[in-house]
This record gives sequence, structure tokens and C-alpha cells, in this order.
Amino acid sequence: TTVYLKDYQPFPFVVQQVALTFRLAPGATRVLAALTLAPNPARPGVHDLRLDGEGLALIAARIGGRALAVSPDETGLTIPAAMLPAEGFVLETEVEIAPEGNFSCEGLYMSGGIYCTQCEAQGFRHITFYPDRPDVMAPFKVRIESDMPVLLSNGNPGAQGAGWAEWDDPWPKPAYLFALVAGDLRAHRGDFVTASGRKVDLAVWVRPGDETRCDYAMDSLIRSMRWDEEVYGREYDLDVFNIVAVDDFNMGAMENKGLNIFNSKLVLASPETATDDDYGRIEGVIAHEYFHNWTGNRITCRDWFQLCLKEGLTVFRDQQFTGDMRSHAVKRIEDVMMLRARQFREDQGPLAHPVRPESFIEINNFYTATVYEKGSEVIGMLKRLVGDQGYKAALDLYFDRHDGDAATIEDWLKVFEDATGRDLAQFKLWYSEAGTPRVKVSEAWEEGVFTLTLSQVNPPTPGQPEKAPKVIPVAVGLLNPNGDEVRPTEVLELTEAVQSFRFEGLASRPVASVLRGFSAPVVLEREVAAEERAFLLAHDTDPFNRWEAGRGLAREVLEGAADAGLWVQGMVRLMQDGGLDPAFKALALRLPGDDEMAATLAGKGQVPDPEAIRDRRRALHMALAEALRAELPAMAAPLGVRFAPSAEQAGRRALRLAALGLLGRLDLGAVAAAHRASDNMTEEVGTLAILLENGAGGPEVASFEARWKAERLVMDKWFALQVGCAAPEAVAGVVERLTAHPLFDWKNPNRFRSVLGALSANHAGFHHGSGAGYRLMADWLLKLDPLNPQTTARISTAFETWGRYDAGRKAHARAALERIKGTEGLSRDLGEMVGRILG
Ligand code: ARG
Ligand code: ZN
Repeated sequence: TTVYLKDYQPFPFVVQQVALTFRLAPGATRVLAALTLAPNPARPGVHDLRLDGEGLALIAARIGGRALAVSPDETGLTIPAAMLPAEGFVLETEVEIAPEGNFSCEGLYMSGGIYCTQCEAQGFRHITFYPDRPDVMAPFKVRIESDMPVLLSNGNPGAQGAGWAEWDDPWPKPAYLFALVAGDLRAHRGDFVTASGRKVDLAVWVRPGDETRCDYAMDSLIRSMRWDEEVYGREYDLDVFNIVAVDDFNMGAMENKGLNIFNSKLVLASPETATDDDYGRIEGVIAHEYFHNWTGNRITCRDWFQLCLKEGLTVFRDQQFTGDMRSHAVKRIEDVMMLRARQFREDQGPLAHPVRPESFIEINNFYTATVYEKGSEVIGMLKRLVGDQGYKAALDLYFDRHDGDAATIEDWLKVFEDATGRDLAQFKLWYSEAGTPRVKVSEAWEEGVFTLTLSQVNPPTPGQPEKAPKVIPVAVGLLNPNGDEVRPTEVLELTEAVQSFRFEGLASRPVASVLRGFSAPVVLEREVAAEERAFLLAHDTDPFNRWEAGRGLAREVLEGAADAGLWVQGMVRLMQDGGLDPAFKALALRLPGDDEMAATLAGKGQVPDPEAIRDRRRALHMALAEALRAELPAMAAPLGVRFAPSAEQAGRRALRLAALGLLGRLDLGAVAAAHRASDNMTEEVGTLAILLENGAGGPEVASFEARWKAERLVMDKWFALQVGCAAPEAVAGVVERLTAHPLFDWKNPNRFRSVLGALSANHAGFHHGSGAGYRLMADWLLKLDPLNPQTTARISTAFETWGRYDAGRKAHARAALERIKGTEGLSRDLGEMVGRILG
């Protein structure tokens, strides 16, 4: 069934207190719940009490000690109004569940012998009967009975004894923030004193043996706590903050109140086993989950349509944090690359949906790049439009006014209106209309006046054929022909379909740097001479646009629209500039990905040929290698320092690996030698990828396996690399071989993604003309779907671009999708996705 935003109604009861007792056993866990309920004045009248609950064996239900003659249906339990006392009452239920047989990574499940939970979005209903909706908030008391040595839940620790422990969470919270962990875990401890002097005990809980890999996560947590105090004035509000790492997790991590649960790949790190990218992601996700304590937990969402209220804002905050910790320019470039690769792809295909959707079948299918990353971009635009002071005033008002609330996007926009006096009615379209606006730029120079004319087109998306013009902040700076900035960045506000902006008092025709910092999530369509892009690549004072100039030039070369020479020469000059950040140089050297090129061509009405795209990319890479031949040995030299996970070293390693990638086109022996000499995972895995991309690496793959076979997170990389780097005609065979490997534990989401996720990321391989990639993908999605529908639904997005390709490929993709769709017992998750992808 489809749920609609417009149908929202408050729950007819308020939950004043929740008391839960868990008697843990793998095959038969008992959950006893006592809910203190009262009529909700916001929903007058007589109402049945409807509780959500799925897969629960009801043992008993009582009100005021008297047994109720009720039995649950497929989705919950109804207690007729006639059985309910008129005033407040306590409902007690007892249910039995089996965490051991639960492979969905939702509700209460077991990962490597550890009991753990995942309740967002609607997992709590797999634990007990409850109004499982975010606007029902209550304080929770939890008692855990188990012989496991470590027993954790939300809030502050209470009494404990042999075989039991109690927890008390005083902050009212929705059920999706509930968590419980029980297992043989070791703590890496730390502490923190808040700005107002409250002492907080911190711990990162991991399996025995992993305690030595927690330093970076703990350090990231402490820096996050300090940053949120300094930048947003937000203090932590409990005596303890616990993080637990588990190996089986559908997503990255979860912000449960006081007890964050993480995918172990986002906690555990050592130089030997984690790459610089892993360290960066750990820092960012630890921060993200911590920041949810205010943006998500203290202020939560009224309903799941408001998901971007917490996710867009929390992504925005974690992006700011990483920028402050590392480099704003580098972070912005990385975020935009990600946005284009994932969100633009989504927004321009059959799965396009608004940042705030208006309906859904399965809410887990809306934890998307649009809700998260475009949700963050929308906040970035808002901040640009109201300025830093306006943003700060609005956020202070938001925390002040809505602390303890389950809020909406309307509430969010209202604080900006009230704090700044700005009318945001038109801006709100960013929340309700899907699709990536296309902004055309043309320019004129006449009698000392430079005019930029901007026009916007908002293309149709599923269910939204027509759209109104949006408010688009376009940051622009002007350079004069010798490269000096003659007009610093200013923000033009495009609010109509077409608008012109005049710049007066200029001595000569300037070069415009448009959409600086990627000031809006749009596709810029600008007829620029390749020479002008090369000029901006050399001179732009805005680091994002400097990178973007090179990227745009490379895209044109790969499209066959520009000559390779200009880009290659631009890159050579950039590499010779000793003043530039190595991380920036490494990003500049990265060629547009094959999927990005396919999207670019499709956007121009062409049918992309995956193998031709791949061949061109490799040829351009080779041309650059030849042009940089003289520079490469120095660029590829070892750093000669002891490994530290700093942004500074990470940038130098990234540049070194980019250089080795180029050198590999000329001399693979040098890469093999660097691989043998590497003493950290960044370089070990980076060099192995280069060998594999060049059709070598056989012996190295074998020795890597021998060395790392006991390390799950490292072996995930081993699986992913072989699939990701395989040649288009070979990838199906590689997937078949690896899925038959004894370590291919397909029930483990990370391992499944390391092969099937990597297959979808291998553009020419997945879209091979034989259709073998599509068939294999369908086979594996169907195999996993009965056990873990969230993961299969997510990976099914591999097919979202199928409509771009030629008739032969489309026929293969359609056959695979129809086969999935026609399978009996298909999950609601995958069923919804495949239905939308087929259109
Ligand atoms: N709120 C979590 C985060 O942003 C994501 C959890 C989503 N999980 C899910 N099964 N939908 O970090
Ligand atoms: Zn989040």
C-alpha cells in the first residue's frame, strides 16, 4: 500500500512512558513491554488503539493486570476502544522473536554472535507492538537479561547485576532511535567535558582483538563533540556516549540515542588495513551520527516524508565539519563528484523523486542521494541566500523553538523566514519538485557593459510533467584577461525563467567564472570555447571552478568535442605549479567516470556506447601519461614519512597514486615495485588496482589473499577490486569465480556489496552487450531478497539507467527486470524499486 504525506494525522494516544524487558535467547527472545498511554488531546474522539507489529508471536496482552482477548494480524494489533479505560492506562504485552534467524539487519538480529538492533525507519515493529512512527515520543526504561558480558541500551546506565542491566533514557524519543546491544565486546574508552562542565564517558565497543583499531574513531568523536559546541552551540546531554561496531549492517551507521551502532568498516582503522578514504569516511560518519543528537534526535521528524529535515541538515553539518578539519576546496569537489555520480543520476532517471517525497510504498527506498545529498545542497543554497549571519540566527531559533518536537519542513523554513524576514515560498519548490534544473548561460559585451543572461529549464520527472522556475543562487566572479579577479564572487539570484545581470565599469571584456563553489545543484549549459576553459583552469581564483574547468574540458575531449592537447597541456602546467595542494592536483587528474560520460551523452540525446567510452578514457589517460613522462617519476616517489591519517599526507598519497596510475600506462614494473614496497593499505590497494586495470596483478592478487584472508574488511576490498577493475568481457567470469569463493559470505551485506555493488560500478562490464552483467545481477538480487530486502532494493539501482542504452542492451535489461518483477514472494522493497525502474 502507498502512504501519502497529505494523509497525516496525529496518533490518537500519547505514550508517557515505555518500560521494556528483554530476555535474550538466540532462537526465542522474550520482549515484555509496559506502555503508559493516555488519549491525545490533538485527536479528540473515541479511537481504537492500533499498534504496529510484524513477525511477533504474541504471548500475552493485559491492561490494568487483566488479560485481553486480542490477536494480531499481519501488520499489527488492534485493541478496540471498548476495551480501553477512558483516561490513562498501562498496556502490557509479551512477545517472542528469534534474532538468530533474522538476516534482514532490521529489528533485533545477531551479527557475529552479538545481539544488535536497527530500528530506523520501521524496525521497532519487529521487536514489540508499538505505535512505530516518529511523532510518538516517549522516555524509555530498558532492562536486559542475558549472560552476555556487555549489555547496552539508550540513555544513562542504571542498576546492574550478574546477567542483567538496566538503562534509563530521560529524553523522549521515537521508537526508531531505540537500540540494544549485547555481546562479548571490548571497550576503547575516552572522555569529554562539555562546555558547561558535564563529564561524559565515551566508549567504542568492538569484538575482542579490534580494540587497537579504535583510536581514530574515538578521536573523530571528540573532535565532533567540540565542533558542535563551537560552531552550533550544541552540547551533549547524557552521561555516556557509546558506539558499537558490527559486521552486518545495511547502511553506514545509526544515530540511536546515546548508543550509535556502526558498520564496522566505519569504525575500525589501522594504517595496515584502512585506506585514507576509509579514514576520511570514518571521521565524516562518526561526526554525522553524533550531530544527529541535535538534528534528528532532540528535534526529530513528524513523519518519514520529512526525512530530509534531519538527513539533509546533518549531511550539511558533517560536510562543514570535514571542510573545517581538512580542506574546504577539496571537500567541495569530492562532494560535487559524488552528487553528480549518484544524485544527478537518480534525479535524471526513473527513480527521480522530490527531496521531500509525497508518497512511498517502502520508506527504506527513500534513504537516497536525493534526500541526503540534494537535501544538503538545498540547505547550502539557503545559507548562501540568507548569508552566514542569517543562517546562524535561523538555526539558533530552530533549536530554541523546536527542541523536543517532531517537526516538518514547514517548521524549518519558517524559522528562516522569521529570523531573516525573507519569503521562502518560491524557494520551497526545491523540496517539492524533483529533477535537476538546467541553467543556460549566455554573455554579451557592449560599450563597457558585460551582461550575463541566465535561463532555467526544469525537466519533467515521473509524476511531475510541468514545473515552475526555482530560486537558483548563481555565484559569479569575473577575471580580466591577464588572470586577475576584477569582480569578486557575488551571488546572482535567478528566480525567473530568463534573467539578465549587468556588470558595469569594466575596462575590458572579462572572463566569467560561473556557478562558483557549485552554488546550486544544477547542470550548467554554457557554450564556452575550450580556450576559455583552459584559461580558467590556469587562473580561476575559485578552487572549485578551477577544478571544474579542467573537468569540463576533459568531458569535452571524451565526447570528441574538443582536442585533447589543451587539456593535457593544462594538466602539465597544473602539475608543475609547486604552490598547489597535492590533494587538489590529484582531483584534477581524475578523469570523468564512464557513467558520468554516459549520462552526459544521454543528456544530449545520444545513445552511449559503454566500451567506446571506456576506450576513450583509457586513451586520454595514456596521452596524459606521455605528456607527463618527465614529471611522473618524481611525482610517483614514496612520501618517505611514517604513515599518519592526516589530510596533508592523504593528499600527497592521492597524488602519488594518480602519478603511479599514469606511470602504469608506460611502465607497469614500477607499479609492481611500489606495490611490493607499500607499508599501508592506501598504497597497497591503490597499486593493486593499477595492476589489475592494466591486465596484470595475478600474483599480487594471490599474495594479497594469502596475507589478508582473515581480515573481513580488507578482503571486501580484495573482492571489490577484482570485479571493479575487470575488463568488460571478463567481468561476468570474475563475478562467477568470486561468488564461488569460500569467503564469499553472501548473507553479509558488506561482502555482497563488494561483489555485486562493484559489478554495477564497472560501467562497461555491467552494461556489456551480452547482457551477462544484467543476468548475474538479477540472479543475486533474487537470491538475497528473501533474507535482506533492504540491501537488494538498494543494489537494484544498478538498473536505473537502463533506458539510456541501445535496443539490444535495453532488451537484456528489461528481461532481467521483468524476471525479478515476476518472481513470487518478492519483497515490498525490491518490488517497489523494480516497478519504478521499469516505469
Ligand atoms: N539515519 C541513518 C543515518 O543517516 C541511516 C539509517 C537508515 N537505515 C535504514 N534501514 N533505512 O546515518
Ligand atoms: Zn543521517
